[in-house]
Amino acid sequence: MRSGLSQAIAGGFVALAMASVPVQATPVISRDATLPIGSELNEELLNQPTELFAAEQAGGKRSYLFNLGDMLFSSASIFGGKARDAGMSCNSCHQQGASNPKLFVPGLSKKPGTFDTSGALFNAKADNGVFDPVTVPSLRGSKFLAPYGHDGRIASLREFIRNVVVNEFAGAEPSGQVLDALVTYVNEISFLPNEKMTPDGHLTAKASDAARRGEALFNKPFRNNASLSCATCHQADAAFIDRKVHDIGTGGYFKTKTLINAKFNAPYFHDGRYDTFGEVVGYFDKHYDLGLTAAEQSDLIAYLDAVGDADTPFTPNTVQAEVDELTQFASVLEVAIPARDKEVIRLAVDSVGAEWREVGENFPDRRDTSVEGGVAERMKARAGVRDLVLSLRQVAMAAEAGDFAEAARVYVQYQQTVATVTPYLKTAEQWSLYNPQVHDKHFTALRQLAELAK
Ligand code: HEC
Ligand code: HEC
Repeated sequence: MRSGLSQAIAGGFVALAMASVPVQATPVISRDATLPIGSELNEELLNQPTELFAAEQAGGKRSYLFNLGDMLFSSASIFGGKARDAGMSCNSCHQQGASNPKLFVPGLSKKPGTFDTSGALFNAKADNGVFDPVTVPSLRGSKFLAPYGHDGRIASLREFIRNVVVNEFAGAEPSGQVLDALVTYVNEISFLPNEKMTPDGHLTAKASDAARRGEALFNKPFRNNASLSCATCHQADAAFIDRKVHDIGTGGYFKTKTLINAKFNAPYFHDGRYDTFGEVVGYFDKHYDLGLTAAEQSDLIAYLDAVGDADTPFTPNTVQAEVDELTQFASVLEVAIPARDKEVIRLAVDSVGAEWREVGENFPDRRDTSVEGGVAERMKARAGVRDLVLSLRQVAMAAEAGDFAEAARVYVQYQQTVATVTPYLKTAEQWSLYNPQVHDKHFTALRQLAELAK
């Protein structure tokens, strides 16, 4: 899922990539040249950050609002202007709710993983005239991480998300339902389990001795300020935060960051100035004159590595996983059609259609000489995806015309088409970009093309 963008724009071979894609029978969101050359959204196809949701973890079911939020989180249709044209969504930056260490947009990023949300590219009105990129935070555990923004300027998640949609990415004022859905979804994104740590933030027997020595240092008062330790601000039983902002010498007041799953949140500090825990520990040692020996520093790093870890940080992607996810996204139509909710019907058709087109692009066209074999199978998969997009369009058209009985009928047809097309996709999977070998060959060839074109 969520992969086509990097394919089309990564590394600046936009024109080349687009030239190899045949003219499509269905309208495509124009992605060419929308973002500056050299943009990298890193929408990783094969190995995606693991997603975990609180209700599901507790054995509960997905609610309508949650599915709607999940779908909207991947939808460019809630944004306006360039972000929408580029097919960007919340998920482009917060990948599967995690951070995005490689995100880079020239003019808005200082280094990979950072982004200036108050730059002019996506909304001239949001431009504060200062180049101040900050890291894209992970949204895991968001429910516990108020106030929001690196500087903790907004207490309410709802207000923060409205601001993202309207002010940062020039979207129309979202309806109450759209905001509720996004808030519900973000609130559900959980920290990933970590066998080295108990739920209240203590190390388990799985952690190393070095990490255990580091835990003691973490709790030990600083030699020049007995009222302060790492744990004063990073409170182990409170998601390793204190919900406060502090000036720790990094250029202003910033909120204390969680250390849970933080191994995957580099680069560190609000501006992403450090790439490793080693550099962070070195900074604290100097700033607070802690006098840590080299051995103590490495113990503290081992501790950060242990609490920052996750049992399964990444999950391989497959055709089946894509089909399952899109089925969940489209399931909002089962509520929206009988409710005659044109807004959700339109959003769902646009978003799920765009996602299917991205899936289709992962089955390379016959003109892609980097992929051998399975031409007929790939063509069948691509044609199947086009049928799916067309069939979804009919749902939207019927709803626009106010014929919701017809919309319900064509939605059932769409579901039948999904059942028919899924086996084609699976048959062609081995010659698609879901196969790591094919994936690597395809991108190596694209990169070589881009080099030749220079
Ligand atoms: C172009 C990249 C980008 C996109 C798209 C994006 N974000 Fe963000 N997001 C960021 C950055 C950068 C920050 C940090 C901003 C700050 O500190 O002011 C952030 C911060 C957040 C936070 C605050 C997290 C915290 O702990 O303080 C939330 C919540 C959030 N985004 C949700 C969303 C949602 C929901 C969407 C889609 C509607 C979205 N974002 C779209 C880059 C992005
Ligand atoms: C006075 C409160 C305070 C103390 C004491 C403190 N921290 Fe922090 N910590 C913060 C704040 C605030 C940030 C975010 C700074 C920024 O964004 O510029 C942070 C960031 C971090 C980060 C980076 C996390 C990320 O995702 O960017 C790590 C790692 C960290 N602290 C570990 C430690 C360790 C280890 C100690 C003890 C040596 C310590 N902290 C002491 C408040 C504190």
